[in-house]
Amino acid sequence: MERAHINQQINITEPLMARINELISHYPADKRKSALLPVLHEVQDAHDNWLSIDLQNKVAEILEIQPIEVYEVVTFYTMYNQRPIGKYMFEFCQTSACCLNGVENLMDYTCNKLGVKVGEPTSDGLFEVRGVECLGACGYAPMMQLGDFYQEHLTEVKIDQLIADCKEGKVTLHDK
Ligand code: FES
Repeated sequence: MERAHINQQINITEPLMARINELISHYPADKRKSALLPVLHEVQDAHDNWLSIDLQNKVAEILEIQPIEVYEVVTFYTMYNQRPIGKYMFEFCQTSACCLNGVENLMDYTCNKLGVKVGEPTSDGLFEVRGVECLGACGYAPMMQLGDFYQEHLTEVKIDQLIADCKEGKVTLHDK
């Protein structure tokens, strides 16, 4: 995925900074970098679920590390988004158990219903579909992750309901 060069409003609020400091406090004073992954999650959650270069630079400044050390992490892990994404990101597992249980058909069904291709947000910015590797819930295949939660034993009917619930703002994305 390319790194985005799109402007993003950076807003490190007092509560966010307090949470970051709390995370940093879990590690020795000379190992602030150890807090990088959880700090990136917090900062991303507070910034519409993506991390611009400027925001990554800000995280580097807070943790007193080099920007490249942040870029290395953000570009490695798919849970960090380098561009604006759909608010409701349907992350379908595309590994063996889910494939054997029809996930590819469900992804096609979802894309057709939303009028998008994989990796392309809907024009209203509400939805996006992505394929990911095994999410460790193989016994519940076919499944996907939506925010912090798993949606399991998926069917077309379940997907219809999820999309409707998202549109009505009934779906919680974060567990905190
Ligand atoms: S194969 Fe889909 S969760 Fe493991």
